Amino acid sequence: MQKTPTSQKKETPFDRAKVGFKNYWYPLVQANQITTRPRKIIMLGEPITITRRNGVAYAISDFCPHRGISLSLGKNYFRGTNTITCKFHGFTFDLTDGSCVAVLSDGPDSEAVGKLKARTFPLEEKKGILWIWMGAGKPVPLEDDIPHLMLRDQTVLKWRERVIYGNWRYHAQSDAGHFPTTHHDALALLSLSWHAHWKDYETEIIFDEVDGGEWLAHKHKGVAEQADYPGLGVWPPKRPWRYHLTAHGGTFPPIHGTSHQGIRMPGLLRVPHWPMDGAFHYEWYIPINEDYYRYVQVNAYFPKNIIHRAWIEFWHRVWVDPMRNGRFNQQDAAMSAGATNWEKHQGKHGPMAAYKPDAFATGFMDLCNRTARGES
Ligand code: FES
Ligand SMILES: [Fe+2]
Repeated sequence: MQKTPTSQKKETPFDRAKVGFKNYWYPLVQANQITTRPRKIIMLGEPITITRRNGVAYAISDFCPHRGISLSLGKNYFRGTNTITCKFHGFTFDLTDGSCVAVLSDGPDSEAVGKLKARTFPLEEKKGILWIWMGAGKPVPLEDDIPHLMLRDQTVLKWRERVIYGNWRYHAQSDAGHFPTTHHDALALLSLSWHAHWKDYETEIIFDEVDGGEWLAHKHKGVAEQADYPGLGVWPPKRPWRYHLTAHGGTFPPIHGTSHQGIRMPGLLRVPHWPMDGAFHYEWYIPINEDYYRYVQVNAYFPKNIIHRAWIEFWHRVWVDPMRNGRFNQQDAAMSAGATNWEKHQGKHGPMAAYKPDAFATGFMDLCNRTARGES
């Protein structure tokens, strides 16, 4: 007897994006980290060699197209040119287009010249950051993908990154709902009288004219500081050292005319008034492979004058940067790991829409499926 075919759920762009969405600009590395000495970074499943020649940074596939040896071991034998020479057999590539221009183990008449080609990736160096395009075809303008407030001349950017175990999508989906419980005992937040929960949490789509982009943003009617759970008690307890209500849960005064908190493609979260009033925190979840991602955080500060600028530098160094090591980033990392392990354990993930704040998780899926560039 013939079996009735079971209906197959079609894979969506979100389902397929295990190692991210390629057709976007991403932050690659702090520009001052890149010198004539090549460095390897794995982005969206692709190992890349980044190096500088004559002051300009270049990105080339890390696999030498001859036998795949890492070009990050390569040499800069021809000073003044834009080339890199593979350590194995001396195939030498022009970093501007990846073409093979010489083979040192075969002499100047080598027949391999002009035949092999390594893939190169467009880079832009702006605001002390190297931005990379790994997509197909011609890149879109950088401003289409990078928040405009970050790119302003006066903005001061501070970079921080770490590698986290887990699939990048769980971190991207986590913002609504996790804050009061995940970070309840974070060092950075001990003075906050915690919001117990959102009131009437929803999401909304915002086209941000100041910062650019289409955002999936939080929408709610404020936060409750405490709540009484029948038969259980009140949570969270009042503590004398928790003396002010977090702006995170309340409504935000605008910064340069924009104030929402949300996420945009390809997985870029923005938090207003964090880690300092009047600043924006941006973070990308950049897949290395299916199981690891680079968590890249960039704080954008807007100094009003030289004294304010000095204060920002001081505060960032002595408090903002260290405090995130004190039970904060690690807490998010543990959540990503847990969600990823669960998916591996049971072969699927879910439920993704169990309560109101899950609208953020499902909303991000929808945003990806509806708008992911070049993926439909
Ligand atoms: S593997 Fe690079 S030159 Fe042979
Ligand atoms: Fe978090």
